[in-house]
Amino acid sequence: MKVLFIGDIVGDLGLDAVERNLPKLKRKYDIDVVIANAENAAKGRGLTHRIYQDLLMMGVDVMTMGNHTWDQREIFDFIDDTDYLIRPANFSEEAPGKGMTTITKNGQTLSVINLHGRVFLPPHEDPFKMATELVEEAKKISPLVFVDFHAETTSEKIALSWHLDGQASCVVGTHTHVQTADGRILPGGTAYITDVGMTGPYNEILGMKKESVLYRFKTNMPVRFEVPTKGDTVLSAFFVELDDQTGKALRFEPIYINPDHPFKG
Ligand SMILES: [Fe+2]
Repeated sequence: MKVLFIGDIVGDLGLDAVERNLPKLKRKYDIDVVIANAENAAKGRGLTHRIYQDLLMMGVDVMTMGNHTWDQREIFDFIDDTDYLIRPANFSEEAPGKGMTTITKNGQTLSVINLHGRVFLPPHEDPFKMATELVEEAKKISPLVFVDFHAETTSEKIALSWHLDGQASCVVGTHTHVQTADGRILPGGTAYITDVGMTGPYNEILGMKKESVLYRFKTNMPVRFEVPTKGDTVLSAFFVELDDQTGKALRFEPIYINPDHPFKG
């Protein structure tokens, strides 16, 4: 199975970048399943029903979330009605939605798990314990298991990758919006990258207007971060091919498309 994971989609420019590049990427890599982190898709904060539907139309099969899951109140109205949108599994038991789903394409079933880090972030349930439980459950269905770990620190993300090496097919980090150069396949066969990077405004700061972020750094005064709607875009993604029998990763490729790194067909 060939899987494409698109890193944190930020605002309208992120959606534009997906719409423009996804058909080309699907052709180039012969993709079976597309997963995307959509927690910043609604102008940087959360996900609306309209954008959720737009992303499905663009060819995204499963969406994952993170610390911005609940920023758009309307998500409470539709998160329980879909199998194609998950939120971190280690949120409170009170949270609606679910943290794992499965998708079947071309005769193969992939489980997708979303987890949330606890370092410099709210104290959710233990992601390591939850990862073990969910991967065990997933492997009863299929050896193909994909994990999006939405976390702040490199150490916590690397730790989870080793925790799941040989168990999950692929572990990707999200949330920090800058693609890391450490893509690899661990000895047990788990593909990994510390952060996939983000998909959205290119000439800004992590997807937010640079003027507002600079103002905050220079003055320490409160300012509302805005997401630009015009300008160049970046698309960050991670491609992985999995062995359908063993669930192990066969090859991977980080993808980074922007004016400095144009798409190569
Ligand atoms: Fe995040």
